[in-house]
Amino acid sequence: MDEQDTLTIRINDREYQVNGSPTRPLVDYIREELQLTGTKIGCGSGECGACTVILDGKPVNSCLIPVASAAGKEIQTIEGLRETEDYQALAEAMVETGGVQCGFCTPGIMATLYAWKQQPDLYEGSVKKALKNNLCRCTGYQSIVQAAEKVVNGEER
Ligand code: FES
Ligand code: FES
Repeated sequence: MDEQDTLTIRINDREYQVNGSPTRPLVDYIREELQLTGTKIGCGSGECGACTVILDGKPVNSCLIPVASAAGKEIQTIEGLRETEDYQALAEAMVETGGVQCGFCTPGIMATLYAWKQQPDLYEGSVKKALKNNLCRCTGYQSIVQAAEKVVNGEER
């Protein structure tokens, strides 16, 4: 594909025609063209998970995905998850446990946990594996782990 070609990507159940560079990072397109700014940019290099979106059911770092690679796939951003029951349950649990402080990491973590909730086998039941690509500088993780275990694994602590 060259720069003149148009490709179609599907985000939150809507289709968009993408013009311009096929190598543009998906996170830039989502934030700058669609104004879906719930997805954050932390490191820009696959280290922090702030840019996590769900692509064909799996959490991915959208800073590492060229828009051309997202063509023909189903993408969900945090904005597309917010009205779902599972998201609401996760959000409530995160508030209850104190899993949200500055909130910068939260959309990425919510996207990861939401995907895990839809596919319980994704991380072999391990909250540590689930969260290993999402950095949080504020909480020390325990509160996030508690929220995840409550909603995804159905465990009360
Ligand atoms: S911004 Fe993508 S992993 Fe940090
Ligand atoms: S709540 Fe601040 S980085 Fe996680």
